Amino acid sequence: MPAALVCFNPACRTQFGIDEVIYACARCGGLLEARTELPHDHAATLEFTWRNRRTSNHPIDQSGVWRYRELLPPFAPVHITTLREGQTPLLTAPRAAEYAGLDALTFKHQGFNPTGSFKDNGMTCGVAQARKLGMTRVACVSTGNTSASMAAYAAAAGMEALIFLPHGNISYGKLAQALEYGARTFQVEANFDRILALVRTLAQRLGIYLLNSINPFRIEGQKTIIAELLDYRDWSVPDWIVVPGGNLGNISAFGKALRELRDLGMIARIPRLAVIQAYGSSPFYEYMHAAERGSFIPEESPETLATAIRIGDPVSWPKAQFEIENAGGVVERATEQEIADAKAVIGLCGIGCEPASAATLAGIRKLVAAGVIARDADVVAVLTGNVLKDSDYIYRYHTGQLKAPDGGLIHPTFGNKPIVLPDDADQVMRAIL
Ligand code: F0G
Repeated sequence: MPAALVCFNPACRTQFGIDEVIYACARCGGLLEARTELPHDHAATLEFTWRNRRTSNHPIDQSGVWRYRELLPPFAPVHITTLREGQTPLLTAPRAAEYAGLDALTFKHQGFNPTGSFKDNGMTCGVAQARKLGMTRVACVSTGNTSASMAAYAAAAGMEALIFLPHGNISYGKLAQALEYGARTFQVEANFDRILALVRTLAQRLGIYLLNSINPFRIEGQKTIIAELLDYRDWSVPDWIVVPGGNLGNISAFGKALRELRDLGMIARIPRLAVIQAYGSSPFYEYMHAAERGSFIPEESPETLATAIRIGDPVSWPKAQFEIENAGGVVERATEQEIADAKAVIGLCGIGCEPASAATLAGIRKLVAAGVIARDADVVAVLTGNVLKDSDYIYRYHTGQLKAPDGGLIHPTFGNKPIVLPDDADQVMRAIL
């Protein structure tokens, strides 16, 4: 079979048709994985094809996702809606490296995507599957970025978008995007995990296609972040790839991509992976660090100012666990203060990112201090969202008004407060000097 949905549970592995509308294994309830027969081309041929497409003016070749379509389930061009997602840069950041205690550090900035986050890489693929299935309505629950992305791609594809958000707990920037892209937006008075359970039931009853990261096609699209990262490095494998963890879809996608690229002969080894969570929303950290590996215990009341990763019951944890263990990976967590300061340092590099993304630098700093990451290691951190996603957080931090969920004030270690001046040349001059 060229492509199938396969249960991720090693004790089950039941296969389903690639076009069945299911989000979990019908036999055991396990997560599903999309499996596509990998191309038989030589690694060098694929390298050449993917590089060549960068000079093409064809929309599908210009997309940093569809350029790597040999890694994805099969779609006809008519199913594909592209906003030219992907193509995100690798940026060196000496100041952030120094802050982390590293000789060098590179960021792969997914905030350069059309809606400002890595969700676009997965969404273009999820929406392609929705079109292939003939769906006219798509839905998601989101901490903000998934909804912004889904709203944009659904609009571009001519579909109706239904968005469910935890009331009062997403940034205005992200909410504004959903409204602007014309999505029907519902703010539900419950947290992310509760709303996801609710919408899963509704999707089945109403025949709506669900585009949360349990949707295996989104994970497929997010694999191309890794393909592109390695392509831009001429297939030189870093020592570490570091990413923030919320629902744990991205780390699952990264691990799968690395395994497939190794099987294709594009890379000889898999780099170590690190997932960084926010302290108040770190059930995966707790699980992976427990003295005895028992059952997964969700965090009932997740809290963090990095609202994108404010998730207590991450759906993809079994995949994430597998990929972390397979890659000799680690899970770390960072406090609100550590995330806020790391974010300001990324800003001082001229790069900037949203709070969840900065968990990477905060986590790397701790892992270097603990001797887990060597000072001279080749490290790539994936920044997941754009600096403008949460401007309110930035203003509060720099003006010393940012309060952690426990009410404690975050110290503006790298604060940069705007100065109010009267209309008076002398006083303006004095302020400058
Ligand atoms: N960083 C950002 C900016 C995010 O928006 C998210 C997830 C993550 C990291 C975590 O990625 O879930 O794959 O581990 N945001 C989701 C949303 C939950 O609804 O937008 P993950």
